[in-house]
Amino acid sequence: MIAKSLPSYELIGVGVGPGIPQLMTLQAIDILKSADIIIAPTADPGTEGRAELTVKALLPDLLIHRVLIEIGVDPTNSYSECAKTICGWLDDQRQVAFITLGDPNVFSTFTSISSAVLEYRPETLIASAPGIMAFQYLASATNTVLLDNKETLALVTAIQDLDCVSMAMESNFDTIVVYKGGKYFRQIADLMEASDLDASFVTGELMGLEGERIDKPSRLSAKDYSYLSTMIIKLTHTP
Ligand SMILES: C[S@@+](CC[C@H](N)C(=O)[O-])C[C@H]1O[C@@H](n2cnc3c(N)ncnc32)[C@H](O)[C@@H]1O
Repeated sequence: MIAKSLPSYELIGVGVGPGIPQLMTLQAIDILKSADIIIAPTADPGTEGRAELTVKALLPDLLIHRVLIEIGVDPTNSYSECAKTICGWLDDQRQVAFITLGDPNVFSTFTSISSAVLEYRPETLIASAPGIMAFQYLASATNTVLLDNKETLALVTAIQDLDCVSMAMESNFDTIVVYKGGKYFRQIADLMEASDLDASFVTGELMGLEGERIDKPSRLSAKDYSYLSTMIIKLTHTP
């Protein structure tokens, strides 16, 4: 048996998976059990965030500190405030674990928070523990093969427009994963229909959470999709 070892860290980003407690890694659980301080980002300090809910389902007795990250405005201030608080704990020799949905190195607040911490405290030892990502879960839940042979995958966002999606389509990627683009899913479907590409897609909203909606057929349901939605597009290119 391989001896288990936890990463060395002062501040660690811990991926807790897409929101399904069983998909948290054993390493994540071990880190959270041993960390001195656990913090979770939230847009509303009065409510448990999704990462917190996921952790609490397995480790109900853990004390989790919520840090306010204001969405919709420039979050730089929130990052600085959060970083100052974290630096206080680090100066007191306490190990801090920051929980985040999915993986901490993919579109995660952890990147901004750890950068802000390094500005105040450049010597901080930062580490991360990987987590299963939403699109991996969606692929599994819909029996979608993400990649095979020489196929290529693009992971893009559609926050304010479809530029990245169009770029990936024009660049002949075989699989395109769209994050943060729920409000554009209908437009993306139209875009694919209007193109001469042979495309199919699956969508997953609030996966693992209350209100989960996973649509396997290549037709979108009439209801709009929220921010916490993921789309996988498969394109078949004819040689
Ligand atoms: C800020 S990013 C976080 C990505 C995360 N770090 C990861 O590795 O999957 C948020 C986006 O991830 C996707 N996402 C994360 N969790 C999800 C879930 N439970 N259900 C559906 N989509 C999810 C959505 O596209 C959402 O807009």
